[in-house]
Amino acid sequence: MAWGHVLDAGTGPKSLPWVASLSSQRWTAITAQPSMAESARQSLSSAPRAADRIIIGNWADEELLPGERFDTVLLDYLIGSVDAFAPYFQEALLHRLAARTLGSLYVIGLEPYVPVVADEDVGAFVGDLGRLRDACQLLARDRPYREYPAQWVAAQLQRVGMAVTDTRYFRIRYRKQFLAGQLDICETRARQIPDPALSAALLEHIALMRQRGEALIEQHDGLPYGRDYVIRAVPAG
Ligand SMILES: C[S@@+](CC[C@H](N)C(=O)[O-])C[C@H]1O[C@@H](n2cnc3c(N)ncnc32)[C@H](O)[C@@H]1O
Repeated sequence: MAWGHVLDAGTGPKSLPWVASLSSQRWTAITAQPSMAESARQSLSSAPRAADRIIIGNWADEELLPGERFDTVLLDYLIGSVDAFAPYFQEALLHRLAARTLGSLYVIGLEPYVPVVADEDVGAFVGDLGRLRDACQLLARDRPYREYPAQWVAAQLQRVGMAVTDTRYFRIRYRKQFLAGQLDICETRARQIPDPALSAALLEHIALMRQRGEALIEQHDGLPYGRDYVIRAVPAG
């Protein structure tokens, strides 16, 4: 079977229904978060087969699935989120997952935004929104995500014995749901900031960003900015 035993190495409600739709022998889905395990489970339209597994665990734990190898390994927006669950572990994670790959390994990620987008209102807004979310998380004493470029991921995969066969980019057009989701994270975190004046000032700014974002979405039919990437790699040699 082409997909064989599939590993969804950072599962969630978007990747797991896709993994479950493949004609695989079985699948294993990993998340560091009990809440994500629950939402992934609820996203399935039919009950998993007896051998399919959703496991709560951390790849930093050497005892996670010891010795198991997989025909297909999927890292769906996993690399960018690692800083929140296992800081500084991105390189070791790629090493660990490459060693578990028998067939194809796919990395899906967001190309990091460039810091300054001159004369480009949508790009400047999307970048400011990401920076506001990260600032609110840091000030609430939480760890934000950290995205990595496709080039960096490809270079790391080569270093750990993989051959990169394909890299594709996909342009993004963010919609209202994205704006609302990002600003909800900002609001939740802003309310947790210990300094009440700073918290209030940020909540005011978040309300302005909501107005600005909604106007830009009307004007441009969404927020056309940024790129996602998919990298496929196989064991070299
Ligand atoms: C952005 S989220 C979910 C993306 C997911 N593929 C989806 O369908 O939406 C990243 C996932 O990777 C998991 N994750 C991040 N770092 C991890 C680690 N060190 N060990 C295990 N899971 C990790 C998170 O718990 C979460 O399930």
